[in-house]
Amino acid sequence: MALILIVVLIYSCRFVVGFNDFPSLMTANATMVIVIEKTFYERKILIKETSIFTREAYEKSVASFTSAATKIARERMNISGLSIHVAQDMGANLARDYTILLSVATCSSTWELFGRAKKEKLVHLAITDLDCPRLPKDEGISIPLIEPGEELPQIFYDMRISRGLDWKRAIMLFDESFEQDSIGKVVQAFCNELPKSDLGLASSSLYFLKRGKSEISTKRIIKEILAALPPRKPIDDHIIVVAAYNVISFILEAARSLRMLSTGSQWLFVVPDMAKYTSGNVTYLIELLGEGENIAFLYNDTNLNIRSDQSCRTGATCHVRELVGALGIALEKSLSMEIELYNRVTEEEFEQAGTTKFVRSRNFIKYIRASTCGRCIKWTVVSALTWGNRIGSEADIEPHTLLGTGVWTPDPGYESKDYLFPHVMHGFRGKTLPVVTYHNPPWQFQMTKTEEITESTKAQWDGFVFDVFHELSKSLNFTYKIVAVETPPEINLVKSNPLKAAMSAAEKVPEKVTELVRSKSVFIAACAYTVGVYRKDTTIKFTLPMTIQTYGLLAPRPKPLSRVLLFASPYTNESWALLTTAIIIVGPILYLVHTFSPRTIDEAVKNPQEPVYIGLSSPSRCTWYIYGALLQQGGMNLPKTDGARLIVGTWWLVVMVVVATYSGSLVAFLTFPKMEAPIKNVDDVIERRGEITWSLPQDSFIEDFLTVSNEEGLVDYKRLLRGNEPHAQTHDTVSYEDNIHDVKGGKHVVIDWKSSLMISGRNDYIETGRCAFSLGTDVLFLEEPISMVVPTDSPYLGLINVQLQRMHESGLMDKWIANRFPTQDSCSDSLMGGFEAANHKVDLEDMQGIFFILILGYIMGTVILGYEFFRQHRQLAKERKVIQPFVQ
Ligand SMILES: *[C@@H]1O[C@H](CO)[C@@H](O)[C@H](O)[C@H]1NC(C)=O
Ligand SMILES: *[C@@H]1O[C@H](CO)[C@@H](O)[C@H](O)[C@H]1NC(C)=O
Ligand SMILES: *[C@@H]1O[C@H](CO)[C@@H](O)[C@H](O)[C@H]1NC(C)=O
Ligand SMILES: *[C@@H]1O[C@H](CO)[C@@H](O)[C@H](O)[C@H]1NC(C)=O
Ligand SMILES: *[C@@H]1O[C@H](CO)[C@@H](O)[C@H](O)[C@H]1NC(C)=O
Repeated sequence: MALILIVVLIYSCRFVVGFNDFPSLMTANATMVIVIEKTFYERKILIKETSIFTREAYEKSVASFTSAATKIARERMNISGLSIHVAQDMGANLARDYTILLSVATCSSTWELFGRAKKEKLVHLAITDLDCPRLPKDEGISIPLIEPGEELPQIFYDMRISRGLDWKRAIMLFDESFEQDSIGKVVQAFCNELPKSDLGLASSSLYFLKRGKSEISTKRIIKEILAALPPRKPIDDHIIVVAAYNVISFILEAARSLRMLSTGSQWLFVVPDMAKYTSGNVTYLIELLGEGENIAFLYNDTNLNIRSDQSCRTGATCHVRELVGALGIALEKSLSMEIELYNRVTEEEFEQAGTTKFVRSRNFIKYIRASTCGRCIKWTVVSALTWGNRIGSEADIEPHTLLGTGVWTPDPGYESKDYLFPHVMHGFRGKTLPVVTYHNPPWQFQMTKTEEITESTKAQWDGFVFDVFHELSKSLNFTYKIVAVETPPEINLVKSNPLKAAMSAAEKVPEKVTELVRSKSVFIAACAYTVGVYRKDTTIKFTLPMTIQTYGLLAPRPKPLSRVLLFASPYTNESWALLTTAIIIVGPILYLVHTFSPRTIDEAVKNPQEPVYIGLSSPSRCTWYIYGALLQQGGMNLPKTDGARLIVGTWWLVVMVVVATYSGSLVAFLTFPKMEAPIKNVDDVIERRGEITWSLPQDSFIEDFLTVSNEEGLVDYKRLLRGNEPHAQTHDTVSYEDNIHDVKGGKHVVIDWKSSLMISGRNDYIETGRCAFSLGTDVLFLEEPISMVVPTDSPYLGLINVQLQRMHESGLMDKWIANRFPTQDSCSDSLMGGFEAANHKVDLEDMQGIFFILILGYIMGTVILGYEFFRQHRQLAKERKVIQPFVQ
């Protein structure tokens, strides 16, 4: 039945065959060519069987080698078959419809054959020499013939090709006990450019570890050698140590004391003689590890004792049996899949889906599993998991562990289970670390229940510091649990609203927080520490600054000056005086010119009745005339004489200019009222120290700075300090708000961080809708960095700083600052000035002055009226007196 099916299949598949470049397995058996390089075969395989290298011995051996392959193929395949050809010639034609190439050749010949086989899309299986880079994993299978003890260079090739080790540069330290002639090969394996991969040359520097006569001298020598190693950049701080079992602890000890073990450095220990001392139990290595170190051990796990076990067969025949056997199964599998596909779909579809030779050969390689020969030669890689284990209180401390990250066997080579240095790739690997913080808005604060709490519990803490800290935890791959330190209730009260509170420079981090850092109970203090204040504390270390604070001063907004005399303000006093003088002088001159002109006399003689010139008939009348002309009221009757006309005419010109400039500047004075002198900087404060009070943040950097500094230019500013002037005060976190409130009174100035003052100013503006403050931003140009804090011996400071640096460079930091702090003074002149000008309405205050003048005019008019009555009365009385004698 099966036979009929196959015949039918074969018949119906003709069409497909015509199209495909490779006959389907259903129509023809797969063919394999075994290419054998004679010299290699003799050197590596024949030598194991016989000591006589005759032609007959060689041919006999090759025959048994190929028959082993044929036999296993026949055993494993029952639907189809595999026809095997043998070629002893390296130049054999591979194009002759072969499906599979099995080569037994030296490394260089193997790679040459690989190139040709790839062109013909053959499946390439290779048995080759040791120290040979393997064929690319999905394009062929190569197995080096290795005897125990020769494997180390091959391990390096395999680790590099499988990307387990992708260093471009390393320092290599070789123990004296290591075989001298292997060293060259190992170095070569580490440095060579590898074919068919993008791994270029790597470079290494070689050093040798010597032993002393005693343990102590050995330790000393090791330390000297390590201390003399050239400086390394963090990016390639890679060290490979090939050393015996018993010196590893000395090396680690010395390196630790020289601070060469850090989060940035990577140490790979290669221990060839480990198998001799331990039977696969390397837990003792854990004792040698320290927090934050990147150490991996590649050790010899070979166990040659279990001879009875099949796994220690290492010969080529074993490999070929395994390979061909696996191949047979793969072929069968592939064939049955093709048959199944054929049955499922129509002929056209099958043709379209028809697997090409290329796809099929890739599939074979995938199906061929690793052989079991030579498996007793085994090296294991264990990597230390040390990050974050020793941080926290007793309960948090965990032992360091070793993670098996890779295994090497001759076939399939290096199998990686994880990164060689898991921490370098994955940071803290999701570990939970204790972190201390306290409520201090807007830098770090706990969201109250009423506010929206986003899904994770992490978001319960917020603020600028936590923006930074969340990013840090993401990039270093750790989670955290918060150890929250309570702040005193009176401070809590002031800062109850996290969105409104401002942090004064007087703010002190609670001593408990620093204490927890000092005692290494926490990974980091996620708080805003002012470096300037705590710089002398050597028991803690600062990270890179997250931001820089500068000082500013908050002064009452300058008020417009009184506008009672607004109408007089366009002219200076001198101008007014000049104008008055002009009026007084021009009147009499006009009178003179007019009165003494012969024409006036003529006219008067001609028309004695005409009272036209009555207005100019006395000096005082002329002055009134001139005054009237000035105000453009009256003065219309022009004198008849040309001299007088010229005088009046030029006066009119003067009037025009005077009036135009006056009204122009009056508008300007109305629009931009004159302000009080603003308090913009500390010089202004000192200048007005008699009339205003001011306050500095208590125990802050600025206070400290002024106290200590003895610089010539700064001595004057010492007056700002409390005690040096009666008006100098200080404020602390609690009294900060009250001081801000006092500023509104108009006689107080608060000096503090610019950002805090801006927040306070903004809050007040939002609350009242008015601008009560003016912000001076230039206060001594003091810059105060704000950092987080880690314990002094924290190995992670460098790591954290790198991440902070990145946040600065990427602009994240600026974005967060812009989100959290006001960037612009909401009452700055540029914003408010224009606003006011556009909407200014002339109000009573602007106008009152001129009404006073009006009233003054009325009063004076009344006074003069009174005087005139008085004078008339006196005159009448006098006349009466004079007349009396006549009556008598
Ligand atoms: C081929 O033979 C093996 C045993 O040698 C057997 O397990 C397998 O089922 C057979 N396959 C087919 C398709 O007959
Ligand atoms: C395929 O191989 C089998 C077993 O080796 C053999 O019986 C069969 O005739 C071969 N078929 C072809 C087409 O060569
Ligand atoms: C690995 O260990 C085995 C067994 O102790 C030993 O024979 C072999 O030489 C070792 N390999 C190397 C490279 O030293
Ligand atoms: C490995 O050795 C340690 C002592 O160094 C021992 O405590 C542990 O039980 C051993 N583990 C195994 C699996 O034998
Ligand atoms: C964090 O660590 C875990 C555990 O090792 C790992 O699975 C994950 O990929 C890591 N995440 C990042 C972003 O590295």
